[in-house]
Amino acid sequence: MDSDPTPNLFTPVRVGPYNLRNRLVMAPMTRNRAGEGNTPTPLMARYYAQRATAGLIVSEGSQVSPQGAGYPNTPGIYSDAQVEGWRAVTDAVHAAGGRIFLQLWHVGRISHPDTQPDGGLPVAPSAIAPEGPIITAGGMQPMVTPRALETDEIKGIVADFARGARAAYRAGFDGVELHGANGYLIDQFLRDGSNHRTDEYGGSVENRARFLDEVTAAVVEVWGGHRVGVRLSPMGSYNSMSDSDPAETFGYAVRMLNRYGLAYLHVAEPLGGPEPRITPLLREAFRGPLIVNGGYGRDTADAAIAAGEGDLVAFGVPFLANPDLAERFAEAAPLNTPDRDTFYGGGERGYVDYPTLQTAGAA
Ligand SMILES: Cc1cc2nc3c(=O)[nH]c(=O)nc-3n(C[C@H](O)[C@H](O)[C@H](O)COP(=O)(O)O)c2cc1C
Repeated sequence: MDSDPTPNLFTPVRVGPYNLRNRLVMAPMTRNRAGEGNTPTPLMARYYAQRATAGLIVSEGSQVSPQGAGYPNTPGIYSDAQVEGWRAVTDAVHAAGGRIFLQLWHVGRISHPDTQPDGGLPVAPSAIAPEGPIITAGGMQPMVTPRALETDEIKGIVADFARGARAAYRAGFDGVELHGANGYLIDQFLRDGSNHRTDEYGGSVENRARFLDEVTAAVVEVWGGHRVGVRLSPMGSYNSMSDSDPAETFGYAVRMLNRYGLAYLHVAEPLGGPEPRITPLLREAFRGPLIVNGGYGRDTADAAIAAGEGDLVAFGVPFLANPDLAERFAEAAPLNTPDRDTFYGGGERGYVDYPTLQTAGAA
């Protein structure tokens, strides 16, 4: 595949049908800047286009239904207006020479009645409350005990993912990524800390992986496997997550995913986390390109690619604060300091005003 015997971040790579010019992936990042009706705005198009020198951009999570929303001002992918808003984003990224996948999202229990349609309870595999507060339009509030989904409701959520996948196609994306990470609905089904079901969606690892399997099949039917990625976070405890045997659970899930010929597997497992790491095991199990993520910088990313630990590396905060991250890495230039106060919500500040090397040089 590569003529260079030791690939690095700047060695082109093939992902699905695409020849990517480098192996930097912009990690999906919720920025809570969608407009009325959870619609993507022109400001969002500017933000993503600024980062188009990534080999691949993965958009922030985009909920597949009003029920799938957990936070204020996150963009949806279920209405015509949202498709139109996203179309401006994909056009801007493509005009700048980039590639962009949409991250399909359902938050499950990580929501609040104030964020839910008709003020209902958030839904989940089981009625187990996550700990801690959550941001709502009215400020921080404690999370509630969710309502366990009825077995016959689950197919409807699978259909919502399929509808989101079709809408993403109309919006001009290059592919879609399933958000199976960070304690949201797919992850809630996968792990036994949040899934205590006794029907065909709970209990054995085969049953816990059934929801992921059905959603993947539905989305692959729309896009073909080669333009669908899946994101997992096997060791993450964020959003009150736990599993009694992550190697078994995620090893099974990844082997199951092999049947779809996916564009990639995206594993979020921060460097410096618990040992032994699960990523090498999933690398072994998965047949296809692997994106690694979590705390990487230029040198650790190059080392991971050279050692074959992953094929591409996703950068979150570094991309948020450095629109020209690829150029900065290529030149070993210093990075901007991220402003955490403007990560979630707000306007242009901390969003589209981080300087590039070029604008910093001109200033
Ligand atoms: C502001 C912010 C928003 C995020 N939103 C998402 C999201 O929508 N979907 C997702 O899968 N991960 C999300 N993440 C996690 C990142 O994709 C990534 O896994 C994390 O930042 C670790 O990578 P890094 O060390 O390169 O920043 C978010 C992270 C940040 C900082």
